[in-house]
Amino acid sequence: MPKYTLNVNGQQKTVEVSEDTPLLWVLRDTLKMTGTKYGCGMAQCGACTVHLDGQAIRSCVMPISAVENAKITTIEGLSADGSHPVQRAWNEIDVPQCGYCQAGQIMTASALLKENPNPNDEQISIAMSGNICRCGTYHRINEAIKLAVQYSKK
Ligand code: FES
Ligand code: FES
Repeated sequence: MPKYTLNVNGQQKTVEVSEDTPLLWVLRDTLKMTGTKYGCGMAQCGACTVHLDGQAIRSCVMPISAVENAKITTIEGLSADGSHPVQRAWNEIDVPQCGYCQAGQIMTASALLKENPNPNDEQISIAMSGNICRCGTYHRINEAIKLAVQYSKK
């Protein structure tokens, strides 16, 4: 099997997997980084969201062969100590219920704020629309994103 050298959370990782292996399974199974979740495997739920060069992408449909030269950030690497403004806001608002979708929600929200530091309700709604929460925490997610905007300004 081919070898790939990846940049994950600022560290070089070499993996040996077939070229069509989705990034999600390399993260979870090969690298044992289980913060990124599997929901649907079809780019429909957002649970598997990570950043690829700062953009939110669905790792369940991203073949490993397409990410070798990119900077990959997972929920484990968003900050060293949970101090990213989005993570602080999530804690403050106490967003999660079961928690399953939340890593993906946080990764999508943090990519949004990087691109647009002061999104309005509609922009938040559009950016977050691909992240499904079976527990219906959408209202708290929206509140937390607005709080993260405030934290980012400080
Ligand atoms: S697991 Fe990737 S979008 Fe659902
Ligand atoms: S918190 Fe349970 S699926 Fe979102």
